[in-house]
Amino acid sequence: LDIDWDASAATLGGYPDFMAKEINEQPEAIERLLHDRLGEHGIEMDELNMTAEELASVDRIYLVACGTSYHVCLIARAMIEDWAKIPVFCEYASELNYKEPLVTDHTLCVIVTQSGETADTLTAARRMKGLGCKVFAVTNVLGSTAARESDGTLYVQAGPEICVCSTKAYTAQMVACSLLALRLALANGQMDQTEVERHFRNLQAMPALIREVISRRWQDQEASRLFRSAHSALFLGRGVNSTTAYEGALKLKEVSYLHAEAYPAGEMKHGPIALLEPGFPVVAIVPADHVHDKTVSNIQEVIARGATCIAVATDGDEKIAKLCDNVLWIPPVPEEYLVPIVAIVHLQMLARYVAIARGCDVDKPRNLAKSVTVE
Ligand code: G6P
Repeated sequence: LDIDWDASAATLGGYPDFMAKEINEQPEAIERLLHDRLGEHGIEMDELNMTAEELASVDRIYLVACGTSYHVCLIARAMIEDWAKIPVFCEYASELNYKEPLVTDHTLCVIVTQSGETADTLTAARRMKGLGCKVFAVTNVLGSTAARESDGTLYVQAGPEICVCSTKAYTAQMVACSLLALRLALANGQMDQTEVERHFRNLQAMPALIREVISRRWQDQEASRLFRSAHSALFLGRGVNSTTAYEGALKLKEVSYLHAEAYPAGEMKHGPIALLEPGFPVVAIVPADHVHDKTVSNIQEVIARGATCIAVATDGDEKIAKLCDNVLWIPPVPEEYLVPIVAIVHLQMLARYVAIARGCDVDKPRNLAKSVTVE
């Protein structure tokens, strides 16, 4: 693999900050990653360095990461379990390092790390290797420690990510893990080539959908005004989009220093509902999917308590348009598992606008480091 970034990749190139630049670079990052990946025999992923037999015999997967990359693992788990029918354990690296993983003879460990240098993740990978697991790294940095020490590496090729908070690496990592899920499903016979191709075409639709969301950034700018006097915010979502809620809340915290927490929408009644009062901002991710109506009832509970609801919803959803104070619209996405890749772009832009309004340096938030090389 030959990846050559010239110096211009690390300059602002006319953008006001790297966060804006990197949000805008997401479609091309995904295009690069998907280029030449579909072959006659499924997904081309030679860098796994595993034979078809070895792949077919994987009976358990540990997905290990920190921060934003951990959220990628949560989405990847849903796809791997559904498509390849392999049980998946998601672990924060810092937690896995102090417990006994349940490793079988055919356990695969996948570490997800943008920088490839996060100390906790590297320690976990070494430990899993010591226990006899094959370790596969999904990373953005060529020649990073994670890449050098792993049995196989998938480079997400998002290009240098300078902003401390992760945007383009997040969406590219999700696409990379979708490819891995398809590769595993084909290897163990849970999916045939035609099905793999269908999912691959859906992945190919992602760049255009993200471009569309980026062109709607005025919606995020408008919604950011609802956070003007807020001290805290709640993010809600169901299914794979509970992860979108976690990542949306993390982005807001990281760049705007506004306290935010996220919950699976159905869990709101077990605690966070006590926070709701007039003006309290609640961001609800409620795309057109099989759990849509359930999330709508949660939104009704939010509205009934006078809180302000900002929804991320699919074009044409009149119920949501009537119910919510503000809507960040996404175009229809061909597959439910891929909605997080499109929906998060609004929340990245929302976090950026809220942060700018609060006078924060979005590229270099206080107390945070791009890569945490201490445990
Ligand atoms: C730091 C960064 C986060 C990142 C996390 C994991 O906390 O500020 O943006 O998600 O590390 O980094 P990695 O490079 O392992 O993905």
